[in-house]
Amino acid sequence: MGNYSVVGGNRLEGDLTVQGSKNAVLPILAATILNKGKSYLHNCPKILDVCNMINILKAIGCSVIWEDDVLIIDSSIITTDKIPENYVQTMRSSIIVLGSVLGRLKSVMISFPGGCSIGVRPIDLHIKALKQMNINIYDTSGFLKCTTNEIKGSTIHLDYPSVGATENIMLVAVLSSGTTKIYNAAKEPEIMELEIFLNTMGAKVSGAGTDCIIIEGVSKLKDVVYTVMPDRIVAGTFLAATAITGGELLLKNVHANHLEAICSKLEEMGCFIKSNDNSLFIRSDGDLNAINLIRTSPHPGFPTDMQAQIMACLSIAKGTSIISETIFESRFKHVPELSKMGADIIIEGRLAIIKGVDKLHGSEVFAEDLRGGAALIIAGLAAEGKTVVHNSNHIIRGYEDFDDKLKQLGANINYFD
Ligand code: EPZ
Repeated sequence: MGNYSVVGGNRLEGDLTVQGSKNAVLPILAATILNKGKSYLHNCPKILDVCNMINILKAIGCSVIWEDDVLIIDSSIITTDKIPENYVQTMRSSIIVLGSVLGRLKSVMISFPGGCSIGVRPIDLHIKALKQMNINIYDTSGFLKCTTNEIKGSTIHLDYPSVGATENIMLVAVLSSGTTKIYNAAKEPEIMELEIFLNTMGAKVSGAGTDCIIIEGVSKLKDVVYTVMPDRIVAGTFLAATAITGGELLLKNVHANHLEAICSKLEEMGCFIKSNDNSLFIRSDGDLNAINLIRTSPHPGFPTDMQAQIMACLSIAKGTSIISETIFESRFKHVPELSKMGADIIIEGRLAIIKGVDKLHGSEVFAEDLRGGAALIIAGLAAEGKTVVHNSNHIIRGYEDFDDKLKQLGANINYFD
């Protein structure tokens, strides 16, 4: 596992073109299984989770190649309905392949995805919905076997607006008979992106971004050429890095409307932000205000995937802030590591109470998950002295060339094995 060495104190200045979205492209990669043809993806991020998903597609018979910067998937031939266990265990978001293999073959065999460092992450909502769609589900010693002779459209009321469950139901319903309605659907931008992608393939999906998504089953899909939307969490991560160091950053290729909740908190902390449709400018003097309460919630609320990064900023804000993590039950693994750097944070259940300190100091710290790792690098950018962030494998899952991009903006950061 690799490491990042960060020497704090440099302002970030410059501009950055934001990479393609990890959480949009993973369900899109799964969806390419459905069209029995070719999919050409532009702006696909070159990150570890995409590599893992490519390995899964290849393992079930797809051909996948990079041609310059275009990822080309040919799903004409699928050789098995069994998703290799090792991939599911290494990347729990691979559960999204369940829906598309099932939709394509009417059967799938997949190991229960393990939990991860941020929580148990059950799939009960996925299973409950699939059973409503005439799918027989067997739990055979840690494997989920799903089969049916006909996927039937159904009206599904999700008990919680689960992103993954919403996506899996959409993928199963595309080639089903009849109409499926998903009430209390997740409204994240990545869900809207999946609808657009599926419709570009010839599916009939509507309502993404609202509480109710409607999928009318079709019998055939076609080849597709698609450009993946920019990653709103990567964009937010660089905004937070600029906020904490004091600096100026112009983000290009962003959907400013995806960043409204994040920007409103950064403005509350004292940053200046100006945006137009596809670019966003931030200026910070590095003196940040505390925020009484940030509560993570489903979109359009404050995204849980930005909780750790904003906590790093609040750790040196003037005053005391509270973060309520309502989505995942153990998404504070970065707190003990920030405390090693001098942060003053108390955890009380799902609440983190952050008392701002004047300065953080460098330390040896350990990334435990993707966004927590990014938060430690953000803290290191502002800390006095050198911080070494271990376990870079977590960070490269979602951030393309993170150290190089920060270095181009003026950060003193180096990767080493
Ligand atoms: C997606 O995970 C994202 N991952 C996560 O981003 C993100 O944090 C999450 O949505 C919430 O926005 C991808 O898109 C690949 P959920 P997902 O199903 O689909 C519970 C990152 O850092 N739940 O909306 O797994 C679950 O335990 C990652 O990029 C059930 O109880 O999220 C959690 O507490 C981390 N039963 C809550 O719902 C279920 O059947 C939200 O989970 C499903 C979920």
